[in-house]
Amino acid sequence: MIALSLAEIAEIVGGQPHDIPDPTVRVTGPVVTDSREIRPGALFTAFAGERADGHDFAVRAVADGAVAVLATRPVGVPAIVVDDVTAALGALAREVVERLGATTVALTGSAGKTSTKDLIAQLLERKGPTVYPAGNLNNEIGLPLTALRADESTEHLVLEMGARYVGDIRYLTGLVPPRIGLVLNVGTAHVGEFGSRERIAEAKGEMVEALPEDGVAVLNADDPLVRAMASRTKARVTYFGESPDADIRAENVRLTQQGQPAFTLHTPTGCGDVTMRLYGEHHVSNALAATAVAHELGMSADEIALALSEAGTLSRWRMEVTERSDGVTIVNDAYNANPESMRAALRALAAMGQGAQSRGGRTWAVLGLMAELGDEALAEHDAVGRLAVRLNVSKLVAVGGREASWLRLGAYNEGSWGEESVHVSDARAAIDLLRSELRPGDVVLVKASRSVGLEQVAQALLDDTSAPSDGRGAGR
Ligand SMILES: Nc1ncnc2c1ncn2[C@@H]1O[C@H](COP(=O)(O)OP(=O)(O)OP(=O)(O)O)[C@@H](O)[C@H]1O
Ligand SMILES: [Mg+2]
Repeated sequence: MIALSLAEIAEIVGGQPHDIPDPTVRVTGPVVTDSREIRPGALFTAFAGERADGHDFAVRAVADGAVAVLATRPVGVPAIVVDDVTAALGALAREVVERLGATTVALTGSAGKTSTKDLIAQLLERKGPTVYPAGNLNNEIGLPLTALRADESTEHLVLEMGARYVGDIRYLTGLVPPRIGLVLNVGTAHVGEFGSRERIAEAKGEMVEALPEDGVAVLNADDPLVRAMASRTKARVTYFGESPDADIRAENVRLTQQGQPAFTLHTPTGCGDVTMRLYGEHHVSNALAATAVAHELGMSADEIALALSEAGTLSRWRMEVTERSDGVTIVNDAYNANPESMRAALRALAAMGQGAQSRGGRTWAVLGLMAELGDEALAEHDAVGRLAVRLNVSKLVAVGGREASWLRLGAYNEGSWGEESVHVSDARAAIDLLRSELRPGDVVLVKASRSVGLEQVAQALLDDTSAPSDGRGAGR
């Protein structure tokens, strides 16, 4: 963060200084919510959570080096007291970003935000200092915390914006107004809460409404609900996708036998060949979106194609591929699941399976529920079960309750009888089954919504052999 005095911070957030002997003392950063991350010069923000109240850690935070605490009540150590810490954090982020000259890029969408954010960051870092969130910090707390990491040297600020309700993105773009705003897709994530895909589009489109006239809206040409957002912005619009009229296009898209996408990248100023280190064809769309941003910021097609071919996974549990020393490959995509990403992951598994089958291996899809699908839940789980069979996945292990039984039933109705598909009650049972069945050459995809916690299946299977992979893991 840029250095700011406690007096300045109190003024920016409209807070009351308490127990501050010297208001000219400066916060030099970072701004943190976790007292264990305190470093000298930090500002500690005290949130009252369900399990712990940050105010209880204020004294320790200052002892560890924090200059002051942003809090809702006096805490006996230097504090700026406000009514609402979240709003104060937002106000501080807004002011800091306004003072800096960095180009702000913000992105939203139903699926792929974090993956795409990581790609954009890996492209833009080649051009200049880039600040972006680690993992998934995409809400009203994570976003300002990320923005507050920017300083005078920052050229690009890349922010992920998530939405659970109409108005969420408007709030986030109000905190840190983007110059480049990107909408990836409108899927079915959180459709249960929103009610319909049209409502989701209404919410995501707030991204482009927030852009200034000299800004750029980056829209997915292949998604009709995203394309239609062009009418909601003052900014210039650029399209990415596989549609022939997209400004940034991929042609000759295919999956390698490892399940990694390869394609020819077309930009208005040139072309380049890309073979990604990431797994699954859904990354083609993410790569094109990232290209559109990098192109706007002056990177050449050659530079972009090279950077995309070298980019790794920065965030965990998203198509993390590890080959065990005994030749079993684990694909951990347990971070989350929705119908679109289930289909993409299954197709990647099928592609990887072609290589595996020639070595006598089988493909396993260990799948659990996709949450928040509302009325579409039954049909969507049924469809995923059927797709696993159509893609010739060798074994489906459906894990969990009612939704898992729908996955299994879909597979059954598509012609997968006997032992080709099974339904087990929980992760423990899945681990037991896989331990007794897996053999060298097998490829195992593990995927479900976050709440199922299927990463423990992937982890248990990886723990079974201690030797590390042969380097096929996707990234850093
Ligand atoms: N373009 C895409 N289309 C469909 N699925 C995708 C796409 N990109 C990534 N996914 C899949 O979606 C899941 C979540 O990916 P990621 O974390 O990048 O998305 P997100 O939008 O950031 O999710 P969240 O809403 O939880 O922040 C992963 O399982 C990933 O494999
Ligand atoms: Mg995310």
